[in-house]
Amino acid sequence: MTIITRESRRKSLSKPRLEKAPEHVAIIMDGNGRWARQRGLPRSAGHRQGTENLRRIVRAAVEFGVRIMTIYAFSTENWSRPRREVMLLMRILEMVIDRELQELHEEGVQIRHIGELDGIEGRLARKVAEACEYTRDNQRLILNVAFNYGGRDEIVHAVQNIVRAGIAPEDITEGTINRYLYTSGLPDPDLIIRTSGESRLSNFLIWQGAYSEIYTTETYWPDFGPSAFYEALVDYGNRRRRFGKTDDQIEADVSKYARVPERTI
Ligand code: FPP
Repeated sequence: MTIITRESRRKSLSKPRLEKAPEHVAIIMDGNGRWARQRGLPRSAGHRQGTENLRRIVRAAVEFGVRIMTIYAFSTENWSRPRREVMLLMRILEMVIDRELQELHEEGVQIRHIGELDGIEGRLARKVAEACEYTRDNQRLILNVAFNYGGRDEIVHAVQNIVRAGIAPEDITEGTINRYLYTSGLPDPDLIIRTSGESRLSNFLIWQGAYSEIYTTETYWPDFGPSAFYEALVDYGNRRRRFGKTDDQIEADVSKYARVPERTI
């Protein structure tokens, strides 16, 4: 019999240290339904397996040194799914909080909710708020759970709150808008991963993702395990981010920063 302890799970994940791990990874966990259909199972089985995988990926993110992870768990558009499926996704969130909160807390995970709690049934909304409060001082991984989240909705709320705050139009900058988004105070995602072969943002982090690297894979979310996740992080590490600059400018920046330690010795 193999006993899996937290320590042995760590060892089983061990991979060469990433040279350049993204600080903030966002994930569109897509393909639960197709994963289930492929196996002749109900969609609910796909969501349950997807939840199991989320558990693995959160632990892997801690292990691989990712500092912030944002997951798209329920979009403002997902309300239009059949009522039974909507209820199931709500129940899954509640179950994850009930069963995983203590261990996530012990692992140093800080849970944050992004999206609107209005519209979510009272007991679940309270549990979400309590989970965020309970883990608020943890620093190892910030886990943003996008639930009842839509990128356009987020921008509308930001604009409404900016107007409410009486900020003059000429004082509004990109920084002002950043401060009024749900992700206020956090850096933009370096990498957005979408599973299941789709290549769209689907209203996810549409402001924050302006310069994110996008990684797509045909693999359905329930099968996108820690090794596949690691591969995505390695792929990110091989990319060159230009933020609108030319290659030559980036080279110059790299050598400028590379020289700094020598000058400071
Ligand atoms: C997309 O797959 C997935 C979702 C809409 C839900 C994602 C939820 C989980 C992974 C479970 C964890 C959930 C919580 C609440 C923490 P799909 O159903 O659109 O798949 P399909 O495109 O193949 O039909």
